[in-house]
Amino acid sequence: MNMDLRSFLGEARQLGPEYFVSISKPVDPVLETCVIQQKLAAEGRYPAIRMENIKGAELPLATSILGSYSLLGLALGVDPGEPKSAILQRFRDRAAKPLEPQSVPRDKAPVKQVVLTGDDIDLAKLPIVHHAEQDSGKYITVGVLILRDPDSGVLNAGMYRHEVKGKDKLGCMFNPAHHAGYIYRRCQELNKRMEAVLFIGHHPAALIGALGEGSIDSCELDLMGGLMGEALAVTDAETVDLPVPAFAEIVIEGYLDPAEETADGPFAEFTGYYGPAKEDIGLMHITAMTMRSDAIYHDLDPAHQEHNLANALSLESAVYDSVRRLVPSITAAYVPVSGSCRFITYVSIKKSVAGQGKSAGLAAITANPNLKIAVVVDDDIDIYDEQRILWAIATTFEADQDLVIIPGAMGSHLNPSSYGEIRTQHGPMNTKMVIDATRPATLPFEERIRPPKDIWDRINLADYID
Ligand SMILES: Cc1cc2nc3c(=O)[nH]c(=O)nc-3n(C[C@H](O)[C@H](O)[C@H](O)COP(=O)(O)O)c2cc1C
Repeated sequence: MNMDLRSFLGEARQLGPEYFVSISKPVDPVLETCVIQQKLAAEGRYPAIRMENIKGAELPLATSILGSYSLLGLALGVDPGEPKSAILQRFRDRAAKPLEPQSVPRDKAPVKQVVLTGDDIDLAKLPIVHHAEQDSGKYITVGVLILRDPDSGVLNAGMYRHEVKGKDKLGCMFNPAHHAGYIYRRCQELNKRMEAVLFIGHHPAALIGALGEGSIDSCELDLMGGLMGEALAVTDAETVDLPVPAFAEIVIEGYLDPAEETADGPFAEFTGYYGPAKEDIGLMHITAMTMRSDAIYHDLDPAHQEHNLANALSLESAVYDSVRRLVPSITAAYVPVSGSCRFITYVSIKKSVAGQGKSAGLAAITANPNLKIAVVVDDDIDIYDEQRILWAIATTFEADQDLVIIPGAMGSHLNPSSYGEIRTQHGPMNTKMVIDATRPATLPFEERIRPPKDIWDRINLADYID
């Protein structure tokens, strides 16, 4: 059986309400789908959600499919009982074995069950969501756009926000630093139409692959296959010269004319704040829509932690690689949801040489421009437990000698505290901070209290508490 969105939802459903819930009551795609997720989050619940009955739409909607670290693990086939560190390890193992896409004939591609062209194209057939009150409109938030680099011919895939601009037009907001931004600018230089395929709904391992941080010369479709552990099945598009994933739920084909631009925003962002309006974004003309006859529409609330978690593993892997080059004794890397899975990273190392803590932190902070704070701890601290991280800082760190501050470095313009070359103006720079919360490598340090292992193993609380 091919891996796809529905096979994943089936697996999550079997694991119970921590992993999956379904809602059959009618839900409004304007704000209500997101408030339901936010209310679950307020109770500390992050299951994948299937909503059967979206007002005004025929298609059901799935969301929050990567809403928790446990769902990330499930996407990569990690047993729910395994420690969190196994998830990054599995990601790294699979990412190291990319698989080229495999072509399948059109009649073996469920995404071709319905084909709409010409006047039949209408985005209103999809339950596209309005996510937050001050958003400028309805956005497809978790589609994957496939483009071809006009120079190398390499296929690029990535996730970008797409505002509905009429029945057959979509905005395409590319961060200029992302590969899609480079490809789009190159098409502008060449004055060439940029063909595009936007697919919605697939196995989450494939979606994580689309978010890969590799070189512009590597093809994310190979990483998607690697992360799924099976090659991505593709077939020909109807109207453009690009492959489409055969087991996607929905495909939107079209082209961007680089001479034509539009605006979008404000938009509720992964930072938990509204991001500003943009004046110069791409406009996609839709030339075909294809879908399964019982397609599921996939949405993501950009202000929900799912948005942050979707990127987490590729960023953690980048931190791990960067630190390991300098400090091979790194034991774990984590980018927590508390830092929007972008701005803060925790790293643990087995320290044996003086200065390794700071070096690990400097390497971590340079792994990605979004990162603003790196905290380095010893390997006996569980970096997934923020109480232990704060305890390590409280008891080993002294700011006059263990803190490194680097002002004016390239950062994230979406971080509300970022600034420009004029310090009081908003811009793309952040001040980076490394907190070395490791103990000295060669000097004596107070001994940590631990319960005696034999008594710990012997005592069963149920035998003692009345
Ligand atoms: C849900 C989600 C939405 C995203 N939206 C955008 C976006 O609107 N524009 C953008 O440039 N990047 C966005 N990103 C980040 C990119 O998808 C990601 O950095 C990707 O690796 C970029 O690929 P590329 O460098 O091949 O273009 C989003 C990521 C996620 C998880």
